[in-house]
Amino acid sequence: MTIRPARLADAADLSRIHTASFDDGWTREDFATWLSRAEGMAVLAIRERETVAFGLALESGSDAELLTIATAPAQRRSGWGRQIFRALDEEACTRGLKRWILEVARNNVAAQGLYRFHGFVEIGVRKDYYRAGEGRVDALVMSRRVGPHGGQDGA
Ligand SMILES: CC(C)(COP(=O)(O)OP(=O)(O)OC[C@H]1O[C@@H](n2cnc3c(N)ncnc32)[C@H](O)[C@@H]1OP(=O)(O)O)[C@@H](O)C(=O)NCCC(=O)NCCS
Repeated sequence: MTIRPARLADAADLSRIHTASFDDGWTREDFATWLSRAEGMAVLAIRERETVAFGLALESGSDAELLTIATAPAQRRSGWGRQIFRALDEEACTRGLKRWILEVARNNVAAQGLYRFHGFVEIGVRKDYYRAGEGRVDALVMSRRVGPHGGQDGA
């Protein structure tokens, strides 16, 4: 098992996992654009030579914005999401960032579980933020400070 920074050559793998995870999955070109940005922070997990999870965040002033974490469907609930966030948090620490911020759909129980595990708390709501089938669903805005966190995150 390896956790390492994602590179341009990984764009297709990231797109594969993203497309398997979201209705509006990002293309290889989308990822290539993100991976070329200096303010981008991207890490991935490899198991038996296969990319199984990744995370992507963005440096924005002193904030680290978490854009997405996704684990290949067959690999979920095996701790990959946790490890990906920890690696992103280390990178955010190295860059001297202060605060994590993210948006997550109100009905995304799995992602909220992961974020709460890592000490995120809800700080706001964006009403009807995401498309959900024919309707809309709110985004919860969540935050925590950058760096090892007390509580469940175990630091
Ligand atoms: C959210 C997601 C990234 C979690 O990844 P994962 O590799 O399965 O996460 P982990 O195995 O590290 O789980 C860590 C913790 O998150 C929570 N969690 C993960 N999946 C959960 C689920 N289906 N229901 C409730 N809690 C869940 C639990 O607290 C879990 O700890 P536990 O297994 O000891 O109970 C994964 O479900 C996914 O790829 N979903 C689709 C993409 C997505 O919605 N991404 C987030 C929005 S940007």
